[in-house]
Amino acid sequence: MADERLIVALDFHTADEVKNLVKTLGDSVNFYKVGMELFYSAGAGVVEWLKSQDKKIFLDLKLHDIPNTVAGGLCSLMNLGANILNVHAAGGFTMMKTAASALHKESELRGVECPKLIAITVLTSINQAEWCGALKISEQVVEFAKLAQAAGLDGVVSSPQEAKLIREACGKEFLIVTPGIRPAGAAINDQQRISTPRAALLNGATHLVIGRPIRSAENPREAALKILAEMEEVAPPLSKRGHAEPTVSA
Ligand code: C5P
Repeated sequence: MADERLIVALDFHTADEVKNLVKTLGDSVNFYKVGMELFYSAGAGVVEWLKSQDKKIFLDLKLHDIPNTVAGGLCSLMNLGANILNVHAAGGFTMMKTAASALHKESELRGVECPKLIAITVLTSINQAEWCGALKISEQVVEFAKLAQAAGLDGVVSSPQEAKLIREACGKEFLIVTPGIRPAGAAINDQQRISTPRAALLNGATHLVIGRPIRSAENPREAALKILAEMEEVAPPLSKRGHAEPTVSA
């Protein structure tokens, strides 16, 4: 079974590009992230296709609006059967709490498993120089994580550089999903607060979101396998240690 701590970002415009990459990666990758670029152009069909291939999906649409609108939007997205949905923590405590309880209530009503709901803290492309908040970025990230947890969310998206502080503040069950991952020697692109896969896991990340280092590699499968080997060296996935993965279920 593929190591589901790796989530590959499908930042494409077309379903054909998605199908090519997913087929190329084959059984090495089981978890994919569908973001706004792909969803806005290819729509729900691409999520349905991924599900037909037995892949897990993080639907990264970063909802940010008033509580009632976000709750309604998430309940509509629930129809697609994604495993993880997300909102911006900057939407506030009431928005997050309303969203989480609407999702739980709706999944109970439908008799389906509730998707995990996580909050974006501070984007990994922002550095301290362009940050205009009153707190330092790392302090703000931890405050957002505590707020998300208090609102009943399952975890956060953060830079791998803040994973350790979040783990200390929010305990061991909290999901910490980290983009901004760059294997040693890889191009940084527009990311700022980055780490290697090894450092991210050692700092407490539960899932690594990786796009360009795999998607743009000359041999994407080889790039993915190299990253997976580095991850396994730091810590084998729980399934290989004889435990069930406690995090995101089917
Ligand atoms: O190509 P790269 O590995 O930089 O892709 C990272 C992915 O994670 C992108 O799809 C981006 O939208 C997403 N993301 C991020 N930082 C966040 C939240 C999501 O880079 N804080």
